[in-house]
Amino acid sequence: MNVLRTLTVLFFIMFLGCSSSGDDAPQGPIVGGPSDDIDPGSTDDGSNPDSGDPFLYNATQDLKDVADFPIGNIVSASKLASTSTENETFKGILNAEYNSITAENDMKMANMFTGQDTYDFSDGDAIVAYAKENGFRVHGHALIWHQSIPNWLNSFAGTDEEFEAQIEGYVKATVAHFAEAKDTGGNPIVTSWDVVNEYFDGSSVRSTLFSQRMGNDYHKKVFQWAREADPDVKLFYNDYNIAGEVGKRNAIIGMVNDFQTNGIPIDGIGMQMHLNHDWPTSDLPTAIQDISDTGLLVHVSELDVKVNYGDDITELTEERAAAQEVQFQRVGYYYTTIVPAAQQYGLTLWGFRDRDSWLYDGGSEWPLLYDNDFDTKIAHRGLVAGLNGENPE
Ligand code: G3I
Repeated sequence: MNVLRTLTVLFFIMFLGCSSSGDDAPQGPIVGGPSDDIDPGSTDDGSNPDSGDPFLYNATQDLKDVADFPIGNIVSASKLASTSTENETFKGILNAEYNSITAENDMKMANMFTGQDTYDFSDGDAIVAYAKENGFRVHGHALIWHQSIPNWLNSFAGTDEEFEAQIEGYVKATVAHFAEAKDTGGNPIVTSWDVVNEYFDGSSVRSTLFSQRMGNDYHKKVFQWAREADPDVKLFYNDYNIAGEVGKRNAIIGMVNDFQTNGIPIDGIGMQMHLNHDWPTSDLPTAIQDISDTGLLVHVSELDVKVNYGDDITELTEERAAAQEVQFQRVGYYYTTIVPAAQQYGLTLWGFRDRDSWLYDGGSEWPLLYDNDFDTKIAHRGLVAGLNGENPE
């Protein structure tokens, strides 16, 4: 009898022990590894449980409330439509922290230009509808990019003139279509477009289907067609490594000067900002200053910070996470303090969870602000500090 009682008590204690460790155990993510354990309560509203994970923190400020300019992130029509727990969490963070959205892929040529003189704007329309309902602006991305060409166009058998007519029709139809979307106050929802993306390869004109079929000046025509289709939408040139490659930076500045001399419309430069934790360093403020000196709008358009470009770590280390935090802070700080307010078009992150990133390789890269459980990383703290004007140096 006593043995039975003792066993019963022991069993009860074990049961209590198990359930209590379930509540109190660190809610640490499998940082860098896929995880489907989503904790919808752990957003950045300060209620983040103290997980003890050194890469996480209890955020108390939402990004959009810290900055004096729009803060963006990327979306897809399918994720916005999904009501899975995971996507509801994503939308909760999106609506709390951001006020600008960019389609990661849905508003690219390969998705919209489905055949000769034929367009499918349905994914973009869904994104615009979400923006309207939830008070976002939409940055259009991207009309012309050599990595997003539909198969039929790649193998287009018509003449160069017929090819160019297809591009003109597509640019005008797309810009005109999205110009129609207005918020309840009658203001446009799609306020800007990356008109040409990655025209340069280093300091030279990149050889692409467009340069081969239309000549190296194709970018000028595209900007003009976009302007003809919508007199008000902001027209951006977008590229990567503007901060790290001085040759490309100077080529872009030369292009802007040429456009301005010859009356080609352009309103802004998108600095993609796919960075590493230790690159660029001193070039970063110099580049932001140089681009700002064009007088155009400046958009940090695709921000992420790799910590393992050399593939020399197998899990996120405290040292790399700290370096990443500083790099995010540097971007926020220099953008906020160098670019005049009238030229600050906004700062857009390129993804939410590490595992959602275009850089995700199965678990050895952690480039974004949220871990795989949507918990807020200290990288976010760095960005908040930078946006608050705290000098990281
Ligand atoms: O949707 C299809 C899916 O149906 C198919 O089964 C699957 C098989 O590979 O592919 C899926 O499409 C992929 C798409 O992402 C959606 O996941 C494409 O293959 C893939 O190429 C595409 O990658 C995108 C890449 O641009 C190329 O368009 C990345 O998500 C996107 O983050 C990346 O973004 C670019 C910017 O637009 C421009 N600047 C550089 C940046 C990073 O490359």
